[in-house]
Amino acid sequence: MRKRSELAPIRRGNVGVASVADQRFSPAVDPQRGAPPQPPKGIVSPMETWDAIRARRNVRAYEDRPIPAEHLERILEAAWRTPSSLNEQPWAFLLCTDREKLRQLAETWRHAHHVAGSAATVVLIAPIPADQDTRDWIFYDMGQATISMMLAAADLGIGSSHAALDDQALARRMFGLPEDRFCVGLVAFGYPVDRPLQPIARPNRRPLDTRSSTANDGDARSPRTMLLLEMAERTKATVLKGPSTQGRRHR
Ligand SMILES: Cc1cc2nc3c(=O)[nH]c(=O)nc-3n(C[C@H](O)[C@H](O)[C@H](O)COP(=O)(O)O)c2cc1C
Repeated sequence: MRKRSELAPIRRGNVGVASVADQRFSPAVDPQRGAPPQPPKGIVSPMETWDAIRARRNVRAYEDRPIPAEHLERILEAAWRTPSSLNEQPWAFLLCTDREKLRQLAETWRHAHHVAGSAATVVLIAPIPADQDTRDWIFYDMGQATISMMLAAADLGIGSSHAALDDQALARRMFGLPEDRFCVGLVAFGYPVDRPLQPIARPNRRPLDTRSSTANDGDARSPRTMLLLEMAERTKATVLKGPSTQGRRHR
């Protein structure tokens, strides 16, 4: 049975990203769990990133209240810190909080209605790629920036949601984008209307069983998950266990 304290809503200070330089977000003392464990000397205190990872979900209905400026800055800083292929940082992050603009942004894609009611939405802008390969890496990099922002937001109790963007012409007009730029997508932010963010015990995902994995288990795992686990098994068998691999190790 999961302890109540493990399912406490995420709020600022509860799941703080604590670092030596930033004491404002050190984890608060939880009356049920007591003081958070202290890290060994010389090691930055543990970040409870795991709670933010488990609590993030797509939130598409938001309270009508603004996100404090310092929290928006933190979300944008998370984007800025994101790694990118060759460190090219192929992005600009445009923060939009103007209600009318948010409503217009919601019109750029049929599954972007929620953007209209968000407290803030980040528009992901990138150079128009010269080829498919460059495009693929841009989307990979932007995906990373997206999840970084979402986790930073979750850490502050702020909900988020993806949205694609179809009507490039409208977005171009709205923000006066240069011809060589396009919008990759939108990330909407706001406080959830339904319930605060809290770690989700059973997320809506295909089953994943990490206990053991052979192709012969005969259980109902998804083909994709099974494939990954099988590959791990095979690799282990070939590289670490197989007698025939001796001569191949140092290739
Ligand atoms: C690349 C990508 C694009 C998405 N586009 C949209 C979108 O246009 N509109 C929307 O409402 N949700 C969008 N989503 C959200 C997914 O539907 C959502 O992440 C998925 O259902 C899992 O739910 P969860 O995020 O709550 O775990 C998108 C997610 C990803 C990763």
